[in-house]
This record gives sequence, C-alpha cells and structure tokens, in this order.
Amino acid sequence: MNRPTDPHALTQASTPVGTHAGYMPGFGNDFETEALPGALPQGMNSPQKCNYGLYGEQLSGTAFTANPPERTWCYRIRPSVKHSHRYEKIDLPYWKSAPNVDPDVISLGQYRWDAVPHSDQPLTWLTGMRTMTTAGDVNTQVGMASHIYLVTESMVDDYFFSADSELLVVPQEGRLRFATELGIIDLEPKEIAIIPRGLVYRVEVLEGPCRGFVCENYGQKFELPGRGPIGANCMANPRDFKAPVAAFEDREVPSTVTIKWCGQFHTTKIGHSPLDVVAWHGNYAPYKYDLRTYCPVGAILFDHPDPSIFTVLTAPSGVPGTANIDFVLFRERWMVMEDTFRPPWYHKNIMSELMGNIYGQYDAKPQGFVPGGMSLHNMMIPHGPDKEAFEKASNANLGPDKLDNTMSFMFETRFPQHLTAFAANEAPLQDDYIDCWTDLEKKFDGTPGKK
Ligand SMILES: [Fe+2]
Repeated sequence: MNRPTDPHALTQASTPVGTHAGYMPGFGNDFETEALPGALPQGMNSPQKCNYGLYGEQLSGTAFTANPPERTWCYRIRPSVKHSHRYEKIDLPYWKSAPNVDPDVISLGQYRWDAVPHSDQPLTWLTGMRTMTTAGDVNTQVGMASHIYLVTESMVDDYFFSADSELLVVPQEGRLRFATELGIIDLEPKEIAIIPRGLVYRVEVLEGPCRGFVCENYGQKFELPGRGPIGANCMANPRDFKAPVAAFEDREVPSTVTIKWCGQFHTTKIGHSPLDVVAWHGNYAPYKYDLRTYCPVGAILFDHPDPSIFTVLTAPSGVPGTANIDFVLFRERWMVMEDTFRPPWYHKNIMSELMGNIYGQYDAKPQGFVPGGMSLHNMMIPHGPDKEAFEKASNANLGPDKLDNTMSFMFETRFPQHLTAFAANEAPLQDDYIDCWTDLEKKFDGTPGKK
C-alpha cells in the first residue's frame, strides 16, 4: 500500500489517499501495483464484480494484435467515460502542432537560442508550453514537436491528456510532480520522464520556477535502441527506468480536463478527480529515467564514432534505420582517442537535429550554447565545430581528457523541423550564430605534407 508519506504533499486542494512517489524498476515490464490490498484481481482481468466496487478498464497503447501488445488494465473508482463530458474548444496559442508551416518564417538555416526567460506571468504546464519546432503531421501520427516549458504554477483541479502524442520531458530547472492516473512521478534536472499518449495527469510545481524541454512524439512509442555489437551492457540499462506505483485520489470537487486531440485543445468539466485508479497492471505506463545512469561507450583508440552510441531512446518511423525521433545524450565522458580530431566532425545530415543544453559546456561549441538554450541544424544544413573549437581541437596535446560538467541532448528526427513564429520572433534567437564559422580560414595552399 502507498500511504501519504511524502513531505511534498500534492496540492493544498488535494486530499489524496495515495500520494507517495514510489517506483518499480524496468523498461516496458508487465508491472502490477495496488494502492489498496486486494484491489488488483488475480488470475483474470474482468471479474464479474471488482473488489471495493471498482470498475475495470483497459488503456490500449497499440492495436490489439501488435506484438507485443501494449495495454494496461486499470481498476478505478469511476470509468474514464465519467471523466469526460461535453467538449468545448479552447485556444492555447503557444502550443502548436504539425503541420505548422508559417509562410513568414524561414526554417532553412542554422539557428541557436539563449534560454527562454521566465516572465512575470503565472504559467502552468498548459499555458507555459512554448512550441519551438514542428515536424511531420499530427493527424497521420508521424513526426514530432519540440517545446520549451516555463512553469511557475501548479495545476489545481485541472487535468490534461494528449491523444496526439507521447511526451518526453527533459527538465533543465526546477522540480515538477506529474500526478498521473497510474501514479506519481517527481522529476528534476538530470532526469527525464515519458508520459504516454492518452494518460490523464496534473503537473505541480515542487520547486520553481521550472524550465525544460519537451519532445512531443506523434508516432510510435519510444523504445530502447538495438544494442548491436555493444551487447547487453552499458548505454541505458533497463533496470534504471522507473514506473510509478499506483496512487489514487477520491476527491469530489469541480474539475476540468483539457484534451489535446488532432492538434486542437478542448476542455470538459467533471465533478471529481480523474486520478482514481486504485490498482493497475500492464506494460503501458509512464516512467522516468535518471540520465546520470546512462553509461556512455565510445572510441578507445582513434576516430570519433557516430553519436548513435549515445542514443538513450528511439522512436521508430516504420522505415528501418530512419527514426521518427532519436533522443541522444551528450554527457560527461573521457576522450582518449589518439591522433584524432575529437569533437564532432563537420557534416550535413538527412536527419534534422534539435539540441538543448541541460548544464555545462558542449565540446563543439564552447561559447554561446548555454544551459537552457537550444540549437537547430535542419535537414541537410551544414554545421560543425565553431572556429574556436576547431583550432583548439586541432592543436591540442592529445592525452586522456575528461569532458566534465556537460550534459546536452538532441531530438533528432527524419523529418524537417519548421520553426514556429514564437521561435523566430519571440524566443531569444542569436542572430549572430552563423558568425561562429565566419573565421574558419582556408589553410590549403597546395604544399605537400602541410597540415
Ligand atoms: Fe549534427
């Protein structure tokens, strides 16, 4: 049982029974958990009558016949159909969905932004979401969107779910609580969370202000990448992913549920908390992961490998080898390669690369790519180390070198990413970013043996 033992109580408006943020280890496991003893049926899913007068309900994350199917059985105070009434369309003008191609915005180019600053305006998880880029099409369930969130206020008697997408949340500042139907996830910088499509939740501020990044995945769910010759160990290990234990609220209070559906937002009013799942079992659940447990592997003699070795999670696209999204982590590690240009090489890429800095300094861009900031190198747009990084790496004495105090990530997608008007006009875009390559000089003069 999970009684309220957490000193960080939910909201002042809450009188929840299960408020403890406890976790179960494993990636995609068939979990089972109950907040009251005997609430979970054993040996079957649909007893004629469930214990405690609960309703049985299934949440499906795949088609029935997918292999393996992803689904979770919930035993709840009311079925979800009671958590939904007539819908009213609302506008969240800063949360955009693909396709969102603004004819007045140029997405072709190399872009970099400083951290989006907080404002004096109180913002929740919903009103504080700021879309930076969109890719693909939310209606055909391909592609993604990238967002910055700026959150200072808890959602109170206000709940949300996205039918469009799975959300990958990457905090950069502040601590958040995701009180979900399937349990509670507390999240802080250096951790990530995945909130599945269709799952109802409320986001509370444990320590604010909060800023971070979100990858909204319209497509197939994130999964662990194939390890290939790396074998069974290192990278992201399955046991380091944590799904929450069951926690529920029995709370009769006027409440609002906001739903994102095909890129549009709607609200529905109900008279109680929808977080009323007392017990559940299945493999379709939210989870968190501590990025400090990511074990990087790399070159140990010469050359610079592809960043695919830093892939924490990948969301397939249906075309082998071209992910809908790869989530890639650049964290502390040793560099030991001999006679090698160690930073990333110059390149053009069919995949479009959106990066964010969680903390510290990124090796290919010693200046300007700041914590909380983002950069975009779109499909087939050339990029690479700036002048300072090139000269430093080309002339360094190559002993073992620790890249310390560094944690950046990339949302990489097979689809071009289109800037929103917010990203182009309101976010702190660095107009001089492309100047970081201006001073790269021609060194070639035809002299044999010259380096
Ligand atoms: Fe790149």
